[in-house]
Amino acid sequence: MPKILVTGGTGYIGSHTVVELLEEGMEVVIIDNLSNSEREVLHGIAAITGTEPHFEEVDLRDRNATYGVFDLHPDIEAIIHFAAFKAVGESVEKPLDYYENNLLSLIHLLEAMNKFKVDNLVFSSSCTVYGEPDVLPVTESAALKKAGSPYGNTKKISEDILQDTMRSLKGKGVISLRYFNPIGAHPSAKIGELPLGTPNNLVPFITQTAAGIRESLSIFGDDYNTPDGSAIRDYINVVDLALAHVKAIRRLLDQKQLSAFEVFNLGTGKGLSVFEIIKAFEKTTGEKLNYKVVGRREGDIEKVYADTSYANSELGWRAEKGIEETLQSAWNWEMNIRSKNKRT
Ligand code: NAD
Ligand code: UFG
Repeated sequence: MPKILVTGGTGYIGSHTVVELLEEGMEVVIIDNLSNSEREVLHGIAAITGTEPHFEEVDLRDRNATYGVFDLHPDIEAIIHFAAFKAVGESVEKPLDYYENNLLSLIHLLEAMNKFKVDNLVFSSSCTVYGEPDVLPVTESAALKKAGSPYGNTKKISEDILQDTMRSLKGKGVISLRYFNPIGAHPSAKIGELPLGTPNNLVPFITQTAAGIRESLSIFGDDYNTPDGSAIRDYINVVDLALAHVKAIRRLLDQKQLSAFEVFNLGTGKGLSVFEIIKAFEKTTGEKLNYKVVGRREGDIEKVYADTSYANSELGWRAEKGIEETLQSAWNWEMNIRSKNKRT
């Protein structure tokens, strides 16, 4: 069974992907510096799968330490690169931290791929590269817009770096996965999203509000040009998202990719408004949410949702889980961490 290196593997999407890789019988080596995750996540992964992944506490900005992991595991066949800083607002405050972390980590990994002869990479990109799309649903061939934040720009630049690098190298394959809005948690509630401090994202803010940790949810704008006035996104279950990574790895290892650099949208294909998410959450969990409408959040776009037909036909993947099941999983996870009293 192939050995896969997962950077950022104790993080939110990484941990769910590690579970699915282990369930497939693959061997997993995680690199994470624990800057935005906890070692305890490894116990959650082991509790679900019955298997402990290898774990290397390494900062990818440290080239020698990164190379050390490849020395230790010379049989790594493919890499899934999740590790990055991801807070849009923070990236505006600290742009150089974002460029340094997100770009240097990628460059070191590409150098390691060369040096240690690893041919396959899956990269975590984002629908943020499309900005406010001209046509919906948005396809992979849509024009890329100027990034709305330094974080978004690191994704755009990373894709450029990958494309240029692949052009110069023979026999390597890269798949860039553009995630829409990942939400929810593993159905076991043993792993999930652990935002530090006040969440920026909608669903963790909803679950923390329902749990009484936050007083009220602010809805950022009800004057958009959408049926109910609130903004529309494509919310994708994190387990569905994780499964797409398994497909991408299989595609690379089977050398079925048609070109050296491929891009896939990962979403459900369906747009939901903020009000629709709130209603679905209240319906499925029976919890009543306190919320108020406030002004628009700077930098937000009006609506974006994916055309997933390329991922459906070429990757053989589609999102399976419905929004209520997904929101219920987020709520189960929230209650689980609350019962462990891990967050105040
Ligand atoms: P996360 O913060 O939960 O996970 C990222 C992990 O990377 C963390 O465990 C962190 O400790 C680790 N990390 C960061 N810098 C590192 C470094 N220099 N060396 C080693 N480890 C490092 O984030 P996530 O939500 O799981 O996101 C994973 C990837 O998906 C990121 O690249 C993110 O930009 C991308 N993405 C996320 C979303 C989203 O909404 N969550 C949307 C689109 C794209
Ligand atoms: N929203 C609220 N109140 C909140 C939080 C969010 O009304 O407290 C609204 C936002 O205005 C937006 C929607 O809920 O309309 C979703 O917001 P999120 O912050 O959850 O997600 P975004 O679409 O803004 O951003 C996410 C990731 C980014 C990534 C982007 C595109 O957080 O990292 O998707 O991939 F760049």
